[in-house]
Amino acid sequence: MNDLLKMRHVSVAYHTYNGVVQSVREVSFSIKEGQTVALVGESGCGKSVTAKSIMGLIKKPGQVSKESEIIFAGTDITKLSPAKLRKFRGKECSMIFQDALVSLNPTMKIGKQIIESLDNHMPELSKDVKRKRAIEMLQMTGIADAEQCLGKYPHELSGGMRQRVMIAIALITHPKLLIADEPTTSLDVTIQAQILKQMKILQKQMGMAIFVITHDLGIVADVADKVIVMYAGKIVEEGECREIFYQPIHPYTKALLNSVPKLNVTGKQMLQAIDGSIPDMTNPPKGCAFCDRCPYAMKVCAKYIPEERSASDTHKASCWLMDERAGRRRAENGKA
Ligand SMILES: Nc1ncnc2c1ncn2[C@@H]1O[C@H](COP(=O)(O)OP(=O)(O)OP(=O)(O)O)[C@@H](O)[C@H]1O
Ligand SMILES: [Mg+2]
Repeated sequence: MNDLLKMRHVSVAYHTYNGVVQSVREVSFSIKEGQTVALVGESGCGKSVTAKSIMGLIKKPGQVSKESEIIFAGTDITKLSPAKLRKFRGKECSMIFQDALVSLNPTMKIGKQIIESLDNHMPELSKDVKRKRAIEMLQMTGIADAEQCLGKYPHELSGGMRQRVMIAIALITHPKLLIADEPTTSLDVTIQAQILKQMKILQKQMGMAIFVITHDLGIVADVADKVIVMYAGKIVEEGECREIFYQPIHPYTKALLNSVPKLNVTGKQMLQAIDGSIPDMTNPPKGCAFCDRCPYAMKVCAKYIPEERSASDTHKASCWLMDERAGRRRAENGKA
């Protein structure tokens, strides 16, 4: 299958009074047509900033570096004019934001909010056709009484229903890529599962690719084809879902896997949080950013950023443990 999105050396920095926050550092990856790719990592790792860069939504004081290439279906969106970018957004690529529940307008009925999305991209459609499409789209997201739903305000709906409405708004223009930034975090676990299942059903029907962002690897297992693990603005590991779950390489990926809630023999949930916290991104570490928290850290890890190494055609990681030169450096340094 063809690449729908190609990110090449994408960096995003925020110029703040406290210094330059290097939120995303030289990130490269791709998403194929119809593929589901998950981006995982702890809070503050740069997941939402990566997603916003794909949508052309980085605003001052944020800046996408000049070297960054964000190629969507052959077009570099970093080079698009604001007018073309507005067309691209919503039509080619839609995003459900992390704060989806507050992104709905509380003073506007659901129907109007869905139809507004069509007004912007398909103004040629008649009012009746737009209404019909809105009802169909709501039904597709699993809302049974779609017609009544059109006349309701957001506060009259449950969290799960509002999230379905957000999906309907995002998908009504039939985008090629749906970006879902933590689409279910505020919902309870059974509703989370239902929403993700619904997104997968819609994906099959509409043939779109999904880029799902979460800090919970547990959610990813059922839905993703490919998993990208991000730490301190960099990709540390990328692989097919089964490679990440069964043959994780990077100590950070392993730590994230250990922090997925598991049931122990007594039926109680076990959760092992990762010790320490992510580094200050105004002054990222010289070497591997995970070094301070890594149980396997060597001297070389603090000095140099590890290069990316392949474990298979689809599985890559950036860790000195994979690099045969680490042994030599260890010998040079006289310490493991
Ligand atoms: N508008 C902004 N101004 C300044 N810094 C920002 C801005 N937006 C993001 N950042 C910084 O960029 C870094 C990455 O933020 P981002 O929102 O991408 O994290 P995240 O991985 O999505 O975290 P979470 O899981 O909490 O949503 C953080 O250090 C954050 O403080
Ligand atoms: Mg985020």
